[in-house]
Amino acid sequence: MKRYLSHPFWQAAIVLALAYVVIRWGVAYLPGLIGIQSAPVPASVVLQYTLIALVGVLVWVSDNEARWKEFKEPIHAVLVQPEKKLARMGLLVLIPAAVGFVTFNNVRPTIAAPASLRSIHPAPPTQITFQGAPMILEGLENPMREPGHEEAAFERGKEVYYQNCMPCHGDYLNAGGHYAHGFNPTPLALRGNGTIAQLTESFVFWRIAKGGPGLPREGGPWNSAMPAWENFLSADDIWAVTLFLYDQAGISPRTWEEEGVE
Ligand code: HEC
Repeated sequence: MKRYLSHPFWQAAIVLALAYVVIRWGVAYLPGLIGIQSAPVPASVVLQYTLIALVGVLVWVSDNEARWKEFKEPIHAVLVQPEKKLARMGLLVLIPAAVGFVTFNNVRPTIAAPASLRSIHPAPPTQITFQGAPMILEGLENPMREPGHEEAAFERGKEVYYQNCMPCHGDYLNAGGHYAHGFNPTPLALRGNGTIAQLTESFVFWRIAKGGPGLPREGGPWNSAMPAWENFLSADDIWAVTLFLYDQAGISPRTWEEEGVE
């Protein structure tokens, strides 16, 4: 035993194994013993840190010529010495078998439930509370569409959009904002036929007012980063930015008559 402990090859192997155990299980479970909450370490992080430990170990064994030579001895012996033939054959079978097993484990179909799908346009409630007051969404039209109001509303909406929405939904309304790639679910494009063109303006008002926190369950399973704008904007501002979105994207909202036909 002592012979092994003082040999650089086995020292390196032990340090590496210990490092793996600490990274894989220690980080996740040791803090729990003293009551600190922690979480399992993702496999990619375990791999990364284990590789870093390996590099450290290799630097240490190769840093000194004598130690490096001693370190390589057992490897060299297993590879060439006639009396190590059995060990050589064993490794020749074991290593491919281990690789095969890991691969099999990764591709093996499992019976875990599939990740639930996210409903992008969940059914809106018929009534909401907007800034403390009840508001019936069904049949509601955008008050900014009153003749004579539209132009001023467009200008106001533009301001609201560029002050608040652009970093996520983008300059071109195509969800290409600077921060967009950082979110899951990603911000939605507000341009094109497949997006808000399918929605009534009251649906869009609801989404802007209540944001991610106001989504019903089927809007999960992830947390949407869309802020609840009723905390920052007035109803008029939200109607104005809604009008701006449609006009800027060159699409028109779904109307309540169409909704009724369904
Ligand atoms: C922090 C980033 C962020 C900001 C800022 C932001 N949004 Fe969003 N928005 C999102 C994300 C993410 C989604 C998609 C997930 C979801 O449905 O909640 C979304 C969804 C939406 C939707 C739903 C579209 C659809 O097809 O259902 C509308 C409308 C919308 N945003 C409008 C706005 C408006 C208007 C503003 C500015 C007042 C704004 N957003 C600001 C992140 C953001």
